Amino acid sequence: MNEKTLSIIKPDGVAKNLIGDVIKRLEEAGLKIVAMKMIKMNKEQAKGFYKVHEGKPFYESVTDFMSSGASVVMVLEGEDAINRYRELMGATNYKEAKEGTIRREFAQDIEKNVVHGSDSEETADFEIKYFFNEMEMTPR
Ligand code: TYD
Ligand code: MG
Repeated sequence: MNEKTLSIIKPDGVAKNLIGDVIKRLEEAGLKIVAMKMIKMNKEQAKGFYKVHEGKPFYESVTDFMSSGASVVMVLEGEDAINRYRELMGATNYKEAKEGTIRREFAQDIEKNVVHGSDSEETADFEIKYFFNEMEMTPR
């Protein structure tokens, strides 16, 4: 099924100059970038984005981290894009991520794990609308 998913190159990935590496991998995998911009979230915006994790032990820390610097947010489109992009990213904990995945290669700990990807159609829909309006979505 053709799907859209939200990708974020997180503040650690931007700080380590990994924007090009990440984009190269997803383009090589055949995922199309249909929207893209660089942003810096404030704490409230990061809390809204990760609202699903409110109350969890890592919520404060991860929202501090996500609002600590610039991120690149993208909408990716393609066949089975949600799962295919999650495969490219690897497991949340880079120590459990498969060899060759983005997180396995570049993450420094479970929090600073370089990339975000939506995990279902519902979350993709919420997350895309959180960052992009209709005019910014570019069919190609
Ligand atoms: P989660 O949605 O579970 O992982 P994923 O990014 O793979 O969908 O968690 C969101 C982010 O929160 C995760 O990328 C890193 C951070 N996090 C922690 O810092 N500690 C944790 O124990 C977990 C589960 C996540
Ligand atoms: Mg998640």
